[in-house]
Amino acid sequence: MNAGVDVEAGTVGVRMPKHIAIVMDGNGRWAQAKHLPRTAGHHAGSKAVRRTVEYCAQQGVEVLSLFAFSSENWRRPKEEVEILMRLFMTTLKQEVKRLNENKVRLLFIGDRGAFSQALQDKIKESEQLTGENTGMTLIIAANYGGRWDICQAAERLIQQAVANNDGHLKVTEALFEDSLATAGIADPDLFIRTGGEKRISNFMLWQMAYTEFFNSAVLWPDFNEDYLREAIFAYQNRQRRFGHTGEQIESAQNNTKNEL
Ligand code: IPE
Ligand code: IPE
Ligand code: MG
Repeated sequence: MNAGVDVEAGTVGVRMPKHIAIVMDGNGRWAQAKHLPRTAGHHAGSKAVRRTVEYCAQQGVEVLSLFAFSSENWRRPKEEVEILMRLFMTTLKQEVKRLNENKVRLLFIGDRGAFSQALQDKIKESEQLTGENTGMTLIIAANYGGRWDICQAAERLIQQAVANNDGHLKVTEALFEDSLATAGIADPDLFIRTGGEKRISNFMLWQMAYTEFFNSAVLWPDFNEDYLREAIFAYQNRQRRFGHTGEQIESAQNNTKNEL
């Protein structure tokens, strides 16, 4: 038969990405270009978040992951960090009710212990309120780092090994994935970075091993449905090979077509 080739993954043309992950970059430059303080860019960026969430939910995207604050972003000026934290809190207060009405399930990944107690409580409350929702899963990565995620997964596995009587644990990729902050969530199919930089900046390092990258020069506050459509279209025209040859993927696709 198809010698283990994942036909679905290789299909070109119509498939929607099930999981889209976005590094929302360029808020500061957007504001500076308008001679505004950087924080004005973060406020404008929160509107782009709303547009993106709504569009993805309408399009049937199953999971949308947004990088909101990295484990390295604490290095920014104190005032900017404070404003970002305040914006995080007010956005949650304003948006969670509507997200819940739209059946969105909210998940937060990252080391939340560094946030104020009030913010931690709000995060927990939002997750509890939306936890049973069956619509799109919206993952907010806050104080998240890919390296942090890998370390905390390793720590959990060590604890499991210690709990085993003989102290032994066979670490497989599947077991490791179950210990990551994204346990139970399929890896991103499409990774979008706005703002033009061509780097991962410590986002989902493990999870993006085979994710398709789309780089956009558009600054995050200007990001909208048209740009998102462009990214999805680019994704739909990629051939995902996962180590196979292009010929293997094509012949698997032809076999499937013939079988239909
Ligand atoms: C992304 O925009 C938002 C966060 C990192 C919180 P930036 O603030 O990094 O914007 P630029 O890259 O300085 O333009
Ligand atoms: C990545 O953007 C983090 C977020 C979008 C939250 P940065 O602006 O922090 O990335 P670098 O520092 O340019 O790599
Ligand atoms: Mg940036």
